[in-house]
Amino acid sequence: MCGICAGISKENMIDEIVGGLKKLEYRGYDSSGVAYIENGKIKVVKSVGQIKNLEKKLAKTCANIVIGHTRWATHGVVSESNSHPHISQDGKVAIVHNGIIENYEKLKTTLKTKEFYSQTDTEVLANVISQMPGDNLQKIVSACREVVGSFALAVMFENCKDIFLAKRNSPLAVAIGDGEVLASSDISVFAEKFEFCYILDDDEFARINSKNVVFFDKNGKKIEKNRVFLKNFDFYSDFSDEKYFMLKEVKEQPMAIRKTFFEYTSDKKFFDLQQLKAFKSFHFIACGTAYHSCLMGARYIRHFCKKETHVSLASEFKYDENVLSKKCLYIFVSQSGETADTIACAKMIKEKGLMSMGITNVSYCTLNNLVDFVLPTFAGREVAVASTKAYTCQLFTMLLFALMLAGKDLETLKSFVLDFNVCDLGSDILQSLFKFKKIFFVGREQDYVTSLEGALKLKEIAYLNCLGIAGGELKHGTLALVDDETLVIAISTQTGLKEKMENVIEEIRARGGKVLLVSQFEHNTKVDYKIVLPVHEECLMPIVSVVPLQLLALEFCVRLGFNPDKPRNLAKSVTVE
Ligand code: G6P
Repeated sequence: MCGICAGISKENMIDEIVGGLKKLEYRGYDSSGVAYIENGKIKVVKSVGQIKNLEKKLAKTCANIVIGHTRWATHGVVSESNSHPHISQDGKVAIVHNGIIENYEKLKTTLKTKEFYSQTDTEVLANVISQMPGDNLQKIVSACREVVGSFALAVMFENCKDIFLAKRNSPLAVAIGDGEVLASSDISVFAEKFEFCYILDDDEFARINSKNVVFFDKNGKKIEKNRVFLKNFDFYSDFSDEKYFMLKEVKEQPMAIRKTFFEYTSDKKFFDLQQLKAFKSFHFIACGTAYHSCLMGARYIRHFCKKETHVSLASEFKYDENVLSKKCLYIFVSQSGETADTIACAKMIKEKGLMSMGITNVSYCTLNNLVDFVLPTFAGREVAVASTKAYTCQLFTMLLFALMLAGKDLETLKSFVLDFNVCDLGSDILQSLFKFKKIFFVGREQDYVTSLEGALKLKEIAYLNCLGIAGGELKHGTLALVDDETLVIAISTQTGLKEKMENVIEEIRARGGKVLLVSQFEHNTKVDYKIVLPVHEECLMPIVSVVPLQLLALEFCVRLGFNPDKPRNLAKSVTVE
């Protein structure tokens, strides 16, 4: 998975392209690069690591015809030479590519050149294009005809003031603004600046200059395309080249958390802090994953604000003999804002004249119309049934809310927001885990919440019979189920509870159970497998530690042959009781 951003303007385009690449960083950030035209010649600048490294290198560069790329390595190791753009051996063609050229070894044998700068499939394609006869458009059309695989391409030629685009099975769109044309792998790059864009279909081509774009079919014949108005799209579109929405959404978490942070630290006013500070207690109510986020939300309020909290499942709250109070704020958390049980509780609270707040991920929803305050989460549209980015954004929003109520400075979270990234599980560990059919998740306090959410993900999409258990409760029942065919995933992110978790691990291993430790610290116990987490403040670790559990569930699901986006018997929004 990679991201492409390319554009032409009468003005300097470097900042625009770098800005676009930053928005695409969720698609890969192993390395990045740009190519631009200077006095008719192609120049290239590349850098390993995050886009900010490239940005530094480009500080003094000015160019108005630019193609850019952020890479997630497929062919070839992470290195500057394997970074895009790639140049043909004659120096006349530069390309950025998202996708895989499956027959690149075969194509290599058709090339005159035997010299290559990189180990990539893309460099082969740059040479194939350069070698083709005809004008620049014909060269690309003919080269793409030879390709087996997927591509979104932006191509530039020496002594040429146009950029060419090509697409098959990888997304690519182009937008026209005032004296500027921009192409990108994701329309969210255009969201703030452009009114409309065009989305290329498979085997279509485009030629752009600073004023317009012309589209061509697979034979290079001119075609007309319809505009897509950007106001109809959510900031995070369904425009994806990931095989599964769930994977797309897991990977979007860093971007969603960043967006949430910048929204809440902007000048916008989401609530009257003084009014909310007046509440003596907070009662969180939700279903499913949102209920798990409530368990953490309540912990944040207790920890930072030292106020009384309650947490209820909406389906239980409805029938419970609750002692309700005017001094309590009832907080309904719902990704969709449409879940029937949650809505029923919100109606009940409203009818009783009590105050409530909704934490929702959708601007227009039933819940928002029932509550007195709304805290939006900025996860963007979540398509996969199993909630991932909506969950972590709920956690993060509730953390921001608790910090604001406690009068703390939100800027302390900025370095986390910029550093947070989705980890890689590593194939070795996965191979050893797939054999387990009996899996428990165990943790204490905040890690107990994560263990509930980890177990829910695995249940929802891989249909494994698993449980999330509080560390101290293991010995009160579940330990009876532990044998040498059991995997226990132990989450341990709290310094003060590390030794207690070591005891839990010992208890499991003494019964022959295998332990996968998910932690940022070394423990004084032997474990069978380990996922090492990055170190962040303890209150942020529930956001960090749930990501490998989401990925683990996805891997199990796909391995077992299921579709993670549409688990059997479940729905994204449950609008019946
Ligand atoms: C369904 C979904 C879950 C979600 C729950 C609550 O069960 O499959 O992913 O957590 O509903 O949905 P809500 O929209 O209220 O957060």
